[in-house]
Amino acid sequence: MSATDDIKARIDIVSYVQRYVPSLKKSGRNYKACCPFHNEKTPSFVVNPERGTWHCFGACAEGGDIFTFAQKVNGWDFKEALRELALQAGVQLRAQTPQQKDEDERLERLRGLLATAADYYHRRLQQADAQPVRDYIFAGRGLHDATVSRFQLGYAPPGWDFMLNALRGLGYSDEEIVEVGLAARNERGRIYDRFRNRLLIPIHDPRGRVVGFGGRALDPDDNIKYINSPQTSLFDKSRLLFGLDSARRAIRDSGRAVVVEGYFDVIQAHQAGHHNVVAQMGTSMTEAQLRLLSPRLAKRVVLALDTDEAGINATRRSLEMARGMLERDYAGKLSVDIRILQVPAGKDPDDFLRESPTDWHALLESAQSVADFVIELETARLSPDSSLLDKQAVAQPILPILLASENDLLRQDNIQKLARRLRIRESELLAWAKAIAPASSPTPAHPPDLPPEYFDAEYAAPPPDIAQPEPGKHLRQGSLRAAEGHCLGLLLRNPHLLAQVNRKLRELAGDDQLLQSGPLRELGADDFSSSRYRALMIHLQESLQQDDLEPLDFLARSIDAELHDELAELLREERVVLSQSLRGNFQVDLHDIVKSRRPAQRPGRDLLTELISRALQLRQERLTNERVDMQYLQEEAQTEADRQLDDRLAIDVRLSVLAKARIDLAVG
Ligand code: UTP
Ligand code: MN
Repeated sequence: MSATDDIKARIDIVSYVQRYVPSLKKSGRNYKACCPFHNEKTPSFVVNPERGTWHCFGACAEGGDIFTFAQKVNGWDFKEALRELALQAGVQLRAQTPQQKDEDERLERLRGLLATAADYYHRRLQQADAQPVRDYIFAGRGLHDATVSRFQLGYAPPGWDFMLNALRGLGYSDEEIVEVGLAARNERGRIYDRFRNRLLIPIHDPRGRVVGFGGRALDPDDNIKYINSPQTSLFDKSRLLFGLDSARRAIRDSGRAVVVEGYFDVIQAHQAGHHNVVAQMGTSMTEAQLRLLSPRLAKRVVLALDTDEAGINATRRSLEMARGMLERDYAGKLSVDIRILQVPAGKDPDDFLRESPTDWHALLESAQSVADFVIELETARLSPDSSLLDKQAVAQPILPILLASENDLLRQDNIQKLARRLRIRESELLAWAKAIAPASSPTPAHPPDLPPEYFDAEYAAPPPDIAQPEPGKHLRQGSLRAAEGHCLGLLLRNPHLLAQVNRKLRELAGDDQLLQSGPLRELGADDFSSSRYRALMIHLQESLQQDDLEPLDFLARSIDAELHDELAELLREERVVLSQSLRGNFQVDLHDIVKSRRPAQRPGRDLLTELISRALQLRQERLTNERVDMQYLQEEAQTEADRQLDDRLAIDVRLSVLAKARIDLAVG
């Protein structure tokens, strides 16, 4: 039994609530009282001992279990409630394991090491013999003193052991120095500084902690222009954007982010007062990088990428990635406005900003829509006498991009443009689009009874009771738990889909404010009956409201040890792999699971449909339970004062029934 179940079994919710609400009185199968959380004369606060729940049907319109009650009445968070109730119930909680503690401390120490190194490199730059480097920075690259301090630029002198000696002197071990990538080991086991005779640029994680370095060659004969920190436990280039820690506020305020290629493009832009600029550090953009920006911070993302062959190919890959990712989340609609910026005449933004600083805004405005960019790019190789077949070969790969626009008019516009460009009729183009639709649309055609291929994990072991809930029938306790786990698992694996579920609920509520704020409000912790699921749901919501970390990373870091197993279990895609890894060091494993989690491939509409119907099913269950309680309250209404409540309850019951009907219709 889990600790939360154990606690619930040992502490009677009625007596617990009675300690805070002495007036709680038996009323039919339930107990009721005036709500302790708001001022009222007629009792609308109900405790259901059978289910172990409480609910205020009055102004609060809130409810939960013993944990949420303890949280609310004492102002605790889940962790505190868990700790206190465990103490009272005599239940032993799983403490943070010694390994978890060790791992936390180890990473913290490595962060300290990196921060110290950045400081050493930076101070080394101030020394007399670094004058040529300062000349390079100030005269050569046009940077100001304040910028150098702001970005904490540094100097790694020639030689093999400047940093090694500094760090050893501070008590860091060779293993630690190698682990963070500041030193490397040769075949003979000799350790030496990785960065030598280079200008060093510290790279921060989104929380502003140094996690790695980029090192620019200072010797023109050095044929490796940039050396970066290797992949380490703290530094994962594919999940970082250079400059994001400084750019976040500006991006959020303007809703726009500019993504450039290199370190100096960012540094120069910030120096010129354009603070919403970040760099993807050379490669094509990864999904994790785009997620750092959108949808939480930026509505528009301008990709200001290199226009040489390699750069264009990287841009193609970035767009392909973006389309795949957005398809997953938004059922085929691009919800981020991605623009492509081509800096004129083979310059990079760094050069451009130094030569024409005042033209930056105009340049940004000239950024093309993805559709325009792709049309121009891909049709460039056609000549006036290209065959229809050539044209089709050009059109087919780009049609999905053109059709992925949120807006019908834009879609039409895109098709028109491409048709004009190819000198063919629109109808012809649309026919091609239709021909490829099954392969490229987010809703792949598959026989109705067969699950889509990417959904195997979920279907492999379908929770038997919930596969097809009988309409109108209550879920039994065990299967309710399974249904909740299934729904929460889907959400945890695709956190950004929560917005889509809520959109569906709003859509069902239509213009009806009472439905919107009542039975069809956003999905929340109260839709889950399991205490741990509730707690995870709250963490999930919090994770979507912050933008320091990917939601799952945030979750893995912020949740209580008690919830770790649950989270891992819900995230699992392959039972076996996980149960094996669970035997080891937990904290590391959870992070590994989070990291290695393969996003479901092209789940598209089916995943969303599945999630929405699961969520609605849970809501239906919750509404049914609430109605039962409300009806009890109504039957009990006797006094004059009770009658006012009765009227209110009558409205609530009607709303609840209306909501139920709409949900039934939607789920079919
Ligand atoms: P560029 O080669 O365009 O260099 O690489 P740059 O930024 O214009 O450099 P300067 O202006 O000559 O100093 C763009 C970015 O790609 C990454 C770096 O992040 C660089 O800023 N890069 C490039 C590497 O990581 N390694 C390399 O060898 C080259
Ligand atoms: Mn450059």
